[in-house]
Amino acid sequence: MQHTDIKVLFKNGGEHVGKIVTVCGWVRTWRDSKSIAFIELNDGTSLKNLQLVIEKESVSDDEVKPALVVGAALKVVGKFIPSERNGFEMSVQSIEVLGGCPNDYPLQKKHHTLEFLRTIPHLRPRTRYFEAVFAVRNALAFAIHKYFNGNGYKYVHTPIITGSDCEGAGEMFRVTTQNWDAKCKTEQEYFAGDFFGAKAGLTVSGQLEGEVAAMGLGKIYTFGPTFRAEHSNTTRHAAEFWQIEPEVCFCDLHDIIGIAEDFIKFIIKDVIENCTEELNFFEERAEKGLIAKLQSVIASDFGKITCTEAVEVLKKSGKEFKYPVEWGCDLQTEHERYLTEEYFKKPVFVTDYPADIKAFYMKQNPDGKTVAATDLLVPGIGEIIGCSEREADLEKLKAAMLKRNMPLESYTEYLDTRKYGSVPHSGFGLGFERMLMYVTGVQNIRDTLLYPRTVGSL
Ligand code: 4AD
Ligand code: MG
Repeated sequence: MQHTDIKVLFKNGGEHVGKIVTVCGWVRTWRDSKSIAFIELNDGTSLKNLQLVIEKESVSDDEVKPALVVGAALKVVGKFIPSERNGFEMSVQSIEVLGGCPNDYPLQKKHHTLEFLRTIPHLRPRTRYFEAVFAVRNALAFAIHKYFNGNGYKYVHTPIITGSDCEGAGEMFRVTTQNWDAKCKTEQEYFAGDFFGAKAGLTVSGQLEGEVAAMGLGKIYTFGPTFRAEHSNTTRHAAEFWQIEPEVCFCDLHDIIGIAEDFIKFIIKDVIENCTEELNFFEERAEKGLIAKLQSVIASDFGKITCTEAVEVLKKSGKEFKYPVEWGCDLQTEHERYLTEEYFKKPVFVTDYPADIKAFYMKQNPDGKTVAATDLLVPGIGEIIGCSEREADLEKLKAAMLKRNMPLESYTEYLDTRKYGSVPHSGFGLGFERMLMYVTGVQNIRDTLLYPRTVGSL
């Protein structure tokens, strides 16, 4: 259908002025009077609506009336002209209604609460808020690919259906094609008859396969959906989220921290450059001071503290935490937020966590108690990156797995990477939606996904 995107009209306004153009879109609002009517039309390409000016004497009533309907889809031909108030507008010559819209259309008001919009995910993309969310989501994804592509990483696609639980926390969704058979005596017997002849699930992380790829390709990244069946009903947990996982050979913890910081700064800078309008919108609608925050993140060095030091800081903070903090315990969100929001007031890498609270694959430090791992914490959210140098020593890795009662025979291929030409290597996982929350100020992960999947909600 021949037409011009509204974004193109506003961007190259001068080029189109005085010309007859065709636009398509949905009616956001309209106003009517005796001799003139106005429609705010949006086609999803631009946060800005195009104002349509309809002189009643030049367009027939039969054309105008069915178009003055919120939510209706229109194809409009008219002259593109400068306007004092809007920069540009369209003087309408003809209107075709592509799709009418009855008055039970739920988006009648100018502003709706985010809670209400969550009840109509199929219509949310027609609001300014979600147009802005999805524009930044798109720009952020593109920036991520740009960073890795520009730095010589290969984009690999790791499997979504897998038999191995990377994080070892038993939070996998099961993938099966058979119904429960009561005749089976054991789990193994039951899964033997299943599609894969073994227990399968949705991946929690592409890391293990990413390591396999890196151990030949040098440096790779994944960017795909990952799944967690944890019952965490918080504003930062989704059952299905996207994760970016670079894996780099010949790279220790210090090196990977440098890469992570460089990467985060690059993608924020890219979004600032390419999403001016959207960030201004979020500054107003989601987080005061958002743009200054992002600019200061680019300009300053991230903080760095060991987990042992962090525990001391928390103990001396004089704060009453719901979960008391002790060395060896997992840091809770309240601890993470204190460190990044009140103590450092900027993003901070917490390094060298106690081995017992972290995953099996992390490099064991010489102290015998901690691992070469780091989480990147940011104000307002907490953890956005989980990162570590990987244990490259076959025997140490096996010992860590056995300690966690992991069946070594299910990981023979992974262990082969340590047997045949093992190298120091490191990687991290960035939660894409959490990063999107950070750059937009959107408070709830449910508002960063087209169809959020959370406990009890499909
Ligand atoms: O810290 P996590 O569990 O680390 C891993 O999965 C490693 N295998 C990554 C690696 O080293 N390649 O998860 C990484 C990040 C977290 O920091 C967080 O940002 C995000 O993924 N994340 C979630 N985001 C939304 N909803 C959830 N339920 C999330 N769980 C983790
Ligand atoms: Mg983590």
